[in-house]
Amino acid sequence: MTLRCFVIGHPIAHSRSPLIHGTWLEQYGLDGSYERIDVAPSDLPGFVARIRAGEFAGGNVTVPHKEAMLPLLDEVSEAARAIGAVNTIWRENGRLYGDNTDAAGFLGHLDATVPGWQEKVRTALLIGAGGAARAIAYGLKSRGVARIILANRGRERAIELARVLGAPLRARDWDERDALVAEADLIVNTTSLGMQAQPPLALDLARLRPGTIVDDIVYVPLKTVLLTQAEQRGGVIVDGLGMLLHQAVPGFARWFGVTPAVTPALRARLERDILG
Ligand code: ATR
Repeated sequence: MTLRCFVIGHPIAHSRSPLIHGTWLEQYGLDGSYERIDVAPSDLPGFVARIRAGEFAGGNVTVPHKEAMLPLLDEVSEAARAIGAVNTIWRENGRLYGDNTDAAGFLGHLDATVPGWQEKVRTALLIGAGGAARAIAYGLKSRGVARIILANRGRERAIELARVLGAPLRARDWDERDALVAEADLIVNTTSLGMQAQPPLALDLARLRPGTIVDDIVYVPLKTVLLTQAEQRGGVIVDGLGMLLHQAVPGFARWFGVTPAVTPALRARLERDILG
C-alpha cells in the first residue's frame, strides 16, 4: 500500500519539501507519495481528523499551522514543546505524534559543514527572536553553548524568548548588534532579511574576527549578501539550504523507515530548482 505523506501550509505553493522527499522516494525505490496540500487555518481540525482516520502516514506542517497543530496531537517531543511549534507529525498505533526538527536540522548542517564547531563556539549571536530563532537557540543551548545573545529589532520579543528558554540566553539592544559582532564566535541570521524580495539584513561586519562562523538560514539566494561579506572578512560561512535538507531527515525516517542521506546530488537538485 502506498504510504501517503503531506506538507500542509497556507499558502503552500512555494514549499520545496516535495522536491526533497520526492527525490528520496525515487532514490530509495519506496512506495510512497508526498503531497503539497493547502489547508486554511479553519480547516486544520478537519485535516487532523483525516490523518487520524488513516488517510496519511504523516507529514510536515508549515506556516501558519506550526503552533496551532501542537494541542491537536496526542504526544509531542521535548524539542517541539520547548520550541512551541511542530513541523513534523506521524501516526503510530492510532496516536498522533509531533516533533520539531528545525533545531536538529540547523545542528546537523552545522556539524556537517564545520566539524568540531562546538569546541570553538563560546558565544553565539542570534539576529532575530521569532520562531526560527527559538528553534536555533534551543538547539545551541542543547549543545552547551555558553553564551547565546539575542539581538532583535523589537527588544521585548528578545527578552521574552530569553525568559522562556532561560540561561544562557540573554537579550541585548538591537543598536548593539554591530558591536556584538566582535564578541561572537558564531553569528546566525534567524530572520528572513536578505531573502529575495526582502530588505537586506543591516549588520555591519567590520568587527568580525577571522574564523568566526556566520550562518544564514536564508537560502534564496543561495549565498546572501551577509555570507558574501562574511567570507570577504575571513568568516567561515554556513548557508541556509543545508538546514532545509537536514530538517527533512527525521520525518522521512519516521514515515518510510529509511534514514535518508543528504548528498551533494540532492543539494545540486535543490540548487537548480532555486536558480530556476
Ligand atoms: P520566523 O517564525 O520565521 O522566525 P517571525 O516570527 O515573523 O518569523 O520572525 C521574524 C523575525 O524577523 C523577527 O525577529 C523580526 O523582528 P521583530 O520581532 O522586531 O518584528 C525580524 N524582522 C522582520 N523584519 C525585520 C526588519 N525589517 N528589520 C529587523 N528585523 C526584522
